[in-house]
Amino acid sequence: MTNINYEYIEDYIRGLVPEKKGQLKEMRQYAKENHVPIVEEETEEFLKFLIYMRKPKKILELGTAIGYSSIVFTETSPSIEKIKTIEIREDMVEISRKNIEDYGFSDKIEVLHGDAAEVVQSVEGKFDMIFIDAAKGQYEKYFNLVLKNLAKDGIIICDNVLFKGMIANQELVERRKITIVKRLRKFLKDIEENQDYMSSIVPIGDGVLLIGRKEDE
Ligand SMILES: C[S@@+](CC[C@H](N)C(=O)[O-])C[C@H]1O[C@@H](n2cnc3c(N)ncnc32)[C@H](O)[C@@H]1O
Repeated sequence: MTNINYEYIEDYIRGLVPEKKGQLKEMRQYAKENHVPIVEEETEEFLKFLIYMRKPKKILELGTAIGYSSIVFTETSPSIEKIKTIEIREDMVEISRKNIEDYGFSDKIEVLHGDAAEVVQSVEGKFDMIFIDAAKGQYEKYFNLVLKNLAKDGIIICDNVLFKGMIANQELVERRKITIVKRLRKFLKDIEENQDYMSSIVPIGDGVLLIGRKEDE
């Protein structure tokens, strides 16, 4: 229950998603049993749709966890030549590299170890899609840092921006999450007011924010 949509809507949409098979099923199971947060199933479908339609060649991801999303992205479109993904936890780096290797995607997915806000500063090149899914309190910082890597028609996608309903409903805010909630609210307001970017919040999963650069007029 994400507190964003009615439970019956979530259940209905999830019920339509075909059941995972093989390694992806095992990875979802592992994530559930070990409390590793990975992309919600309906968000996964939405991102796959975007990738399939936009056919990005290069993707930058902040927040690898067990490598699930980067594997799903790579599998979705043969257009993808390279995914660079950054993860702070050493155990996750190890697990994700193993999963990526087992999937046969080691040539396409590179896991970089470290704090995304630091590592990203030395990431060179332009990316057609940038998926921000690391520390939620740092999203505005990440956004500003990755702009140098955004291709002209590139898209930035931020997951969990409605954060279990807490962003929109003060009554749901947990005390220890107050700082994250305040920062996410500020980021969403700032991006909405920023005249240089087009943005849209999609209330699917835990809330997905889409950002694209406006064309020079
Ligand atoms: C929501 S999970 C990523 C899930 C993954 N994208 C997927 O859907 O399969 C967030 C990950 O970001 C990592 N993380 C948290 N803070 C970070 C930071 N400052 N730099 C890099 N990674 C960070 C966490 O360790 C966690 O594995």
